[in-house]
Order: sequence, then C-alpha cells, then structure tokens
Amino acid sequence: MKGIILAGGHGTRLNPMTVAVSKQLLPVYDKPMIYYPLSMLLLAGISEILIISTPQDTPLYRRLLGDGSQIGVSITYKVQDTPRGLADAFILGADFIGNDSVCLILGDNIFYGYDMSGVLQNAIKNLDGATVFGYPVKNPKAFGVVEFDEKHNVISIEEKPTHPKSNYVVPGLYFYDSQVVEIAKNVKPSKRGEIEITSVNNAYLSMGKLKVSLLGRGIAWLDTGTPHGMLKAAEFVEAVQSRQGYYVSCIEEIAWRRGFISTEQLLELGEKLQATEYGKYIISLAGEVLNQ
Ligand code: DAU
Repeated sequence: MKGIILAGGHGTRLNPMTVAVSKQLLPVYDKPMIYYPLSMLLLAGISEILIISTPQDTPLYRRLLGDGSQIGVSITYKVQDTPRGLADAFILGADFIGNDSVCLILGDNIFYGYDMSGVLQNAIKNLDGATVFGYPVKNPKAFGVVEFDEKHNVISIEEKPTHPKSNYVVPGLYFYDSQVVEIAKNVKPSKRGEIEITSVNNAYLSMGKLKVSLLGRGIAWLDTGTPHGMLKAAEFVEAVQSRQGYYVSCIEEIAWRRGFISTEQLLELGEKLQATEYGKYIISLAGEVLNQ
C-alpha cells in the first residue's frame, strides 16, 4: 500500500497566516500540521509516501522532510499547479500508485485516539475496492455527508449538501485499490469546479465496492479549517501530551515503533532536537531501551 498526503490548496480561510506559507506547515502546538497526517501513514505501516503541494510550497516540504530516509521511509514529491480538487491526487499520483492500493490523507486532517492503528490496519487488511470512514459532527454541511437507508446501508455521499441527510461525514482519510486512478480520470468537475473525492466514492458505491466504516467516540478528528479550530486542536494536543507524557504524532517515535528505524537512529534524531521538549522526549524513548 502506498500513501499520499495532499498538502496544497490556497488556505484562504486562514489568511493572513497562509499568505506566505502553506497551511499544512503551520504549527499545531509543537509540530508542523503535516506531521499529524504523516504519522497516520506511518502508523498504518506505509513506507512509500508521496506529498503533493503547490509549486511554491513543495520545496519547503522537501526541506522539512527530505527523502524520508531519516525516519526509514521513502518520501517523494509532486507539484499540483492549481487546486483542481482532491481526486487530482490520483491523477498526479498515477505513476506512483502503479498497480498498488493507496491511502490518501488530507494534509490538514488530524486524528487521535483509541486503537487508531487497529482502525488503519483493518482498513488495509480488508480492503476490497474502497474504504472510507463516517464520523458524527454537529455541522455536517461543510463536508461530504453519508446518507443511510433504514437498514443502515450507505445509499449516497453528498458533498456539502444544504440539507444533510445524516450527521455522519467522511473525514479526509481514504483507502482505495488501484482502480482509483482510472475512476479519478473520469470524474467531471462539480459546481464549484473541482474534481471531488465524493464523486470517486460514489463511483465505488455504484460498483458495490464502497465500505463506510464508522469511527467511534474514542477517536478525535480535529478541525483545522479556522483560526479557532487551530487553537482548539493545539490545546487538545497540549492537554494530551502534558497529562499523559506521551506525544501525539511524534513521527520519529512511530517510525521507531513500526521498526522503520533502530533505537540508535532514534537517539540520533532526538539529539539533533535536544534543545526542545520534543527532542528530549525522543531521547528518553531511546534511553529506556539502550539503558536497560
Ligand atoms: O476534511 C474532510 C473533507 O475534505 C471531506 O468531508 C469532503 O468530502 C472533501 O471534499 C474535503 O472538503 P473541503 O472542502 O474541506 O476540502 P478543501 O478544499 O478544504 O481541501 C482539503 C485539503 O486539501 C486542504 O488542506 C487543501 C488541500 N487541497 C485541496 C484541493 C481542492 C489540495 O492540496 N489540492 C486541491 O486541489
């Protein structure tokens, strides 16, 4: 399974913060926003990752994450000239995906919670067509909304409906087989002029190959779409980290726990950041093993 992080767009709703810098490079408490979706791919055990961003921002992501070898994975980059829509990820990523299956995660989506790795690994293990998730929210109008029949079967997904038919929406985390490339190529632009991921999902639904897996209350899906949402997300991360002592989405830790890097490599990464609490945390993880 390959992984794609879509980290482009104009980020206009966060102006002036995003005039000079990409939204997904902004901090959420103590780390760049993209660390959170990247950590989901690592948690899923995915080690071949493509990051898609704008012409101006792609070099900045490369500066931040390099070729991924420091965390034992491969990270490559692709430029999206204009934000044509989320389904464009599969057209731009066609060669990268090849005949493999793929997980797409949006660069501004943050997940955290109980058994997240189980959720991801189950989605990969049982993939037959497409798997997306359903998550209950109070403001479904802003998202792709799932419509169920009385037997709880999914009958459609509607993008930003004026009259949502449920309060279950589809977060920006999607698993597809390799057919997604051809499906994306055939998607017609929507009224807002984008090739929508929702059209891709409905194409799988009409083939009887869309699974919508409902996420429970134990998982937090945080919004970073507004300054208020960013502040709340930062507060959430700070609260979990300072209360538990475990870091949320420390990519070095997850790469190590997944066996992508050794304890010695982990220690080296921590030492480079030793002036920060983040670095000290990494050093302490390595120390627990090396000092045994
Ligand atoms: O967050 C989940 C929602 O994401 C889903 O429920 C919706 O079905 C889906 O359409 C999408 O809705 P948004 O309208 O919130 O997507 P937005 O245009 O804000 O783009 C999401 C991220 O992807 C954002 O970080 C910018 C980036 N992006 C977006 C487009 C359209 C790109 O990198 N390239 C693009 O072409």
